[in-house]
Amino acid sequence: MTTASQILDRVLVLEMVRVTEAAALSAAKLIGRGDEKAADAAAVEAMRAALNELYMDGTVVIGEGERDEAPMLFIGEKVGAAIGKGPKIDIALDPLEGTTITAKAGPNALAVLAVAEEGNLLNAPDVYMEKIAVGPGYSKGIISLQKSVTENVTAVAKEKGVAPANLIICVLDRPRHEKIITELRDIGCGIMLIPDGDVAGVIATSDPETTVDLYMGTGGAPEGVLAAAAMRCVGGQFQGRLLFRNDDERLRAKKWGVEDLDKIYDLEDLAKGDCIFAATGVTHGSLLQGVKTLRDGRTTTESVVMRASSGTVRWVKSEHRPKN
Ligand code: FBP
Repeated sequence: MTTASQILDRVLVLEMVRVTEAAALSAAKLIGRGDEKAADAAAVEAMRAALNELYMDGTVVIGEGERDEAPMLFIGEKVGAAIGKGPKIDIALDPLEGTTITAKAGPNALAVLAVAEEGNLLNAPDVYMEKIAVGPGYSKGIISLQKSVTENVTAVAKEKGVAPANLIICVLDRPRHEKIITELRDIGCGIMLIPDGDVAGVIATSDPETTVDLYMGTGGAPEGVLAAAAMRCVGGQFQGRLLFRNDDERLRAKKWGVEDLDKIYDLEDLAKGDCIFAATGVTHGSLLQGVKTLRDGRTTTESVVMRASSGTVRWVKSEHRPKN
């Protein structure tokens, strides 16, 4: 019998791109139309249909919400063309990461997906997560949520061989980040404030072209698991800590099996073993080009698919003919 590991190896790496491409192509029809819900729904429907063509017994562990709040790709939903007989795969997905960005035709909206063998992705509740990330090439443990903003920046600057003021830090533009931003301004760092889309923000630390050195701040916990899967593949570092705004969120976390509510999650706690991460650009961004429509009706997409066990990063440019 084919094992889950062989399936990850042979089949899913490239199949995953078809799935994120399908979601991106559908969402792209709604770029700049001011309708976040419609863009998200289009991406969800297309991603689900594409997942259901894959030979696997898949379970959505990070999805569109709980069963009663999401009609499709809810947490626990079974997907795949071999339910009950194929290899068991856990799936973390965000068919449209950046719904507001898409509605406003802003940069960096992505269709994203991560898969791993059953049990290897954290079932993160839909709460906030405090995050810090740095790209590859730094000594292990250089960043920590237990250190202050200044300590983290100073440590990374020292290893990079530059003054702390020369670093660029990516932060989600939210009032809750005022303290982080003030501390970074006091150091003199450059701050890349992004309106949304912290999966791309975290991954930006791994790409020298973006000039981003560090990612800091609080965003969605599901997005944290997706970003962690990507960082496992590119060799960067990431830490996350769940943040709860009320008892209801704490209860929800317990329901999902979170025992220590203050735990600091390292990469391997969020995405263990072998995993694959794939993303396709919906709107133009630092990581990927967005979907483009050519004069003859064809559309082009740009995607990336990476695998933790091999460290391979594949960039995939595709042309799609209009369907009759
Ligand atoms: P959506 O795609 O669901 O709109 O999420 C976008 C996003 O910016 C994420 O990248 C980020 O983790 C989260 O929202 C931040 O949440 P909030 O908008 O509540 O600050």
